[in-house]
Amino acid sequence: MTIIDTPRLRLRPWGDTDAPALFELARHPRIGMLCGWKPYKHIDDAHEALSTFLAAPDSYAVTLASTGELVGSIALRIDTDSPEASVADIGYWIGAPYWGNGYATEAGNAIIDRARELGVSTIILKYFDGNDASRRVSEKLGFTWQSREEDVEYPLIGKRLTVHRTELALAAP
Ligand SMILES: CC(C)(COP(=O)(O)OP(=O)(O)OC[C@H]1O[C@@H](n2cnc3c(N)ncnc32)[C@H](O)[C@@H]1OP(=O)(O)O)[C@@H](O)C(=O)NCCC(=O)NCCS
Repeated sequence: MTIIDTPRLRLRPWGDTDAPALFELARHPRIGMLCGWKPYKHIDDAHEALSTFLAAPDSYAVTLASTGELVGSIALRIDTDSPEASVADIGYWIGAPYWGNGYATEAGNAIIDRARELGVSTIILKYFDGNDASRRVSEKLGFTWQSREEDVEYPLIGKRLTVHRTELALAAP
């Protein structure tokens, strides 16, 4: 079990007991819609996420080191289908009450260090056109804008959107 500590945050694996706090944050209308999934309507949505994609390797609950409170989610996903052995992407969200405190950037830097440890050479971060907060996070993390793709289908939210792709190359350890 990997736990990552930063000055203000603890990134730890998710557990079943996170369901109520996860539900409270993920029901917010703007979070999922900017990540490609629908806002949670029921606590069962939280249980479902906890038993599927949030249970993946290197998917972390972002919590406050001082109180243990859940503030968000961050995940590193190594692309095993990629012909390049060591490409990963990152995805993240921070609950609305906690926006603007630098938490996404702090968690993002920790995940970049984790990716380096795992031998990842390139990290991809994508955000929807108009998501200026995430664009800014990608800039602060040192990612470089690569391209935009139009008309990408996101079936879970029933939309076709323009997506920006940014990348960070990691030096070999
Ligand atoms: C994007 C998100 C993770 C940022 O979390 P956060 O903890 O508030 O991020 P940080 O505080 O580390 O940095 C946010 C930066 O964006 C800036 N910002 C916020 N809203 C902005 C906006 N509308 N336009 C431009 N910049 C904006 C902040 O000022 C800050 O930059 P600064 O430090 O230079 O002032 C959060 O807003 C979120 O979860 N949004 C919904 C889900 C989402 O978009 N996830 C990412 C999908 S790619």
